[in-house]
Amino acid sequence: MSDHDDTLAIARATVHPAFTVGPIDRRIFGSFVEHLGRAVDTGIYEPGHPTADANGWRGDVAALTRELGTTVVRYPGGNFVSNYRWEDGVGPRDERPRRIDLAWRSIEPNQVGTDDFIRWTRLTGTEPMLAVNLGTRGADAAAELVEYCNVAGGTALSEQRRANGADEPHGVRLWCLGNEMDGPWQIGHTTADEYGQRARHAAQAMRRVDPTIELVVCGSSARDMPTFGEWERVVLEHTFDHVDHLSVHAYYQERNGDRASFLASGAAFEAFLTEVITIADAVAARRHSDKRITLSVDEWNVWYLDAVEPDATLPLRERPDLLAERYSMLDAVVVADLLSTLIRHADRVAIACLAQLVNVIAPMVTIPGGGVWKQTTFHPIALLARHARGTTLDARVDSPTLATAAHGDVPVIQPTVVHNAEAGELVIAVTNRGATPAPFTLHALGYELGEVVDAVTLIADDRGARRSAAEAADGVPVSLDGVTATGQELSATLPPESWSLIRVAARAS
Ligand code: AHR
Repeated sequence: MSDHDDTLAIARATVHPAFTVGPIDRRIFGSFVEHLGRAVDTGIYEPGHPTADANGWRGDVAALTRELGTTVVRYPGGNFVSNYRWEDGVGPRDERPRRIDLAWRSIEPNQVGTDDFIRWTRLTGTEPMLAVNLGTRGADAAAELVEYCNVAGGTALSEQRRANGADEPHGVRLWCLGNEMDGPWQIGHTTADEYGQRARHAAQAMRRVDPTIELVVCGSSARDMPTFGEWERVVLEHTFDHVDHLSVHAYYQERNGDRASFLASGAAFEAFLTEVITIADAVAARRHSDKRITLSVDEWNVWYLDAVEPDATLPLRERPDLLAERYSMLDAVVVADLLSTLIRHADRVAIACLAQLVNVIAPMVTIPGGGVWKQTTFHPIALLARHARGTTLDARVDSPTLATAAHGDVPVIQPTVVHNAEAGELVIAVTNRGATPAPFTLHALGYELGEVVDAVTLIADDRGARRSAAEAADGVPVSLDGVTATGQELSATLPPESWSLIRVAARAS
């Protein structure tokens, strides 16, 4: 078919209640707060702000975190964690040291640390996911942090926590074994072999303290890393019996004005996830093991990634406004497609964290002393977190293809279909990656469709213009007209370069 004519062939998806991918783990609607830029200071934390509570947490940011539907929040890094001493961030605030953060070459005031962050997760109804430093430190400090957080009392570190005001253990279940240890920019960057051993030692020690924790071992920091694939294999050979999840980090951006390839990011992401799953299963096969390692996609987003190495010629500053990305409607469509891709892999993606939550490549931006505004990317994330509940269906898709320079031929239309049994709905997220309107039909075999409950769409009609606070309000989804559903068939015409969410009443027939 022609990619750019005005009569795109119809795209079809077929689902049946008996054919499922799996239940969606709510933890895939996670996010990430790193001590980086204004994520913490003047992000989630700003004492004296008009909305701040007695602990200094900005009420407006906490409210938007809830509205976004955030479940898990990864903390404190990111690159930051690889030179972090967690002890600096606990105890009386006025006694905490100011340190140089080598990862981002900033001054870290340490006014927020582990106990504080746990309190913020309670305030926001989120689950903490803590990363330990395997860059400059090892098993010792990692196990001590687990003791500090999770042991009820009666040991030096658990009593220290209690003396610091947290009588009850924090009960942190999710732990990351370092961050991006394959990246030359990482403090303590090393080989897969060395990291695999480091991670295993840390995992063993941490589990001796608390056997109930779930552990994430570092995969590659990007698919285009030269060590990708071999890194995952070697690290898992060392850690397979000691970890639950393997991390995936994936950032996408439009390069050289190649809009079609950027719009196809979801297809590239899908291929990447499949490769990582295949490698994990190959390690399992070699070990004659039935264990299935699941993925923790604990950094994903659109990011016009310029540098992860800080500029050493600049003076040290206290948390400068780094990675202050502004997003376009095109970015929002791609972000929506990326999150939809994670939902399609519900069988193997257990956790995912949008990187990040506020101010730093984030769906919301604060004004110090002032308000907070939603970026274009906020809306699809909030919509999916709210409605993509239940079970992902194994949709069979028949779509025309879009030729891209970076990713080859990809489906123009990419549907993701979720059965939300509780609401009695089929929830259909569908991306039109092409430049023309596209007819789309869903055949819901084994269902009786009822009324179209809601149909909204995000359209990348702004030719990539990044939106400012003043313009962002226009970036909300608009209603998608003309969606019809009768019997087992739903039909819609999808606007060019769009992502839509359609909810239709459905009962198994
Ligand atoms: O999310 C920003 C940075 O991206 C993180 O600190 C690092 O892990 C990744 O390279």
